[in-house]
Amino acid sequence: MKRLVLAVMAFGMMLAGAVHSAEELHNPGGIGGLESLRGASELEATRAADPMKRYPRDQGTIDSDYVYQPPLVPHTIRNYEVSKNANKCLACHSWKNANEMGATKISVTHYQSPREGQVLSDVSPARYFCLQCHVPQADAKPLVENDFQRVDALR
Ligand code: HEC
Ligand code: HEC
Repeated sequence: MKRLVLAVMAFGMMLAGAVHSAEELHNPGGIGGLESLRGASELEATRAADPMKRYPRDQGTIDSDYVYQPPLVPHTIRNYEVSKNANKCLACHSWKNANEMGATKISVTHYQSPREGQVLSDVSPARYFCLQCHVPQADAKPLVENDFQRVDALR
C-alpha cells in the first residue's frame, strides 16, 4: 500500500513537472514579448554588446543649452585617469598647459573656493574631479524621445 501511494505521488510530480516545462517552452525568457531599452532578447540569452559610441574628432566645442552649464566634453576621455594621484584633464586644460596643448583653459571659477569665493593658487579641490560636472558627448541617438529645448537666450 505504501509503495502504491509513493508511486502515485511520483507520477503526479512528473506530470506537474511536464506541465511546468511546457509553460516555459511557450515563454522561455519570461519577458512576455516586451521590448525594453535592452532590446527584445530573453533574460537567459547573452546579448551581444552594442558597438562603442563614436566621439567625432571634429565636433569642436558644443553649444550650451542653458547659462552656467558645465560645457560638454567634445572628445573621447577613454584612458584619461582622474584620481588622487593624477589628473589627465589638467595636463591639457590647466592654465599652465592649455595654450601649448591648444585646449580651452578651465575657467577662473575653478580656482575659487566654493564657500568664500577666494581665489586660490591652484585648482580648487571642489573642481578636481572634472567628470562630476563635465560629461563627454558621443554621436549617439537618444534612447527615448525628448523635447528638451535650449533656453531662449541661447537660441
Ligand atoms: C590631450 C589634451 C586633452 C586632454 C587630456 C583633455 N582635453 Fe578636453 N579638450 C581638449 C581640446 C584641444 C579641446 C578643444 C575642443 C577640441 O578641439 O576638441 C577640449 C575641449 C574640452 C571641453 C569643452 C570646452 C568648451 O569650452 O566647450 C571640455 C569641457 C573638456 N575638454 C573637458 C575635459 C575633461 C573633463 C578631460 C579629462 C577627463 C579632458 N578634457 C581631457 C584637449 C584635451
Ligand atoms: C562642480 C562642477 C565642476 C567641476 C568639478 C569642474 N567643472 Fe569645469 N565648468 C563647470 C561650469 C559650471 C562651467 C561653466 C561656468 C564657468 O565657467 O564656471 C565650467 C567651465 C569649464 C570649461 C570652459 C571654460 C571656458 O572658458 O569656456 C572648461 C574647459 C572646464 N570647465 C574644464 C574642467 C576641468 C578640466 C575640470 C577638472 C579639473 C573641471 N572643469 C571641473 C563646472 C565644473
